[in-house]
Amino acid sequence: MGVNKGAFITFEGIEGSGKSTQIKLLASYLKKEISKKIFLTREPGGTVISEKIRSLVINHLNQKSNPLTELFLLFAARAEHFDLIKQKLKEGYIVLCDRYLDSTLAYQHYTGSIPLKYINYLQLLIDKNQKPNLTILLDLHPNVGKKRIIRRNKKLDRFDRESVEKMNLIRKAFLKIYKLNKNRIILVSNNLSKKEVQNNIRTIVLKYLNK
Ligand code: TYD
Repeated sequence: MGVNKGAFITFEGIEGSGKSTQIKLLASYLKKEISKKIFLTREPGGTVISEKIRSLVINHLNQKSNPLTELFLLFAARAEHFDLIKQKLKEGYIVLCDRYLDSTLAYQHYTGSIPLKYINYLQLLIDKNQKPNLTILLDLHPNVGKKRIIRRNKKLDRFDRESVEKMNLIRKAFLKIYKLNKNRIILVSNNLSKKEVQNNIRTIVLKYLNK
């Protein structure tokens, strides 16, 4: 298959929705079948500095932190990271990013305290296009997500410890964002086997890349 254009594809969803597993499976499939030029990355993170900021956001901020501190750290990480993404896109890479702007909208605006106009303004400073080319929203009931998080057995961070009620609000926020951006976001249910979900994602991404 002759794919040689760059594309910026993001993956979104609640904790435990299976994003990280599915994005890794997709990256190795695309590398093998389509192009070696696949760049797998994540937010917050993706560069040395942005990964340090990620650790601050995830491990050091807490419920008492000023929401603006979190917002500025997330955008500081994104400013660094987006330079790298832009470079990769210019070189013809397909960039697969685990979380991006829709997470900021879901967590900091819809279920947080930050007005939309501030997020839009900061985003505009970083990326004039504002939006990824394609977004896969992995949807899962929070009860199932919570069980998966607990089963993972890794040290839980403050986001992993969110209640099912809060996760449900975040899920609803993502679904609202989906409804407002149906031209860009594709909803994929993660209520199937890992393989079936991966096949659905592959079909969607290949269709987009071959357009
Ligand atoms: P994630 O990488 O999914 O964590 P994990 O390694 O546990 O799967 O996400 C890190 C957390 O960062 C996630 O809970 C949501 C949060 N986040 C925001 O609040 N706003 C943002 O803009 C981004 C990108 C992430």
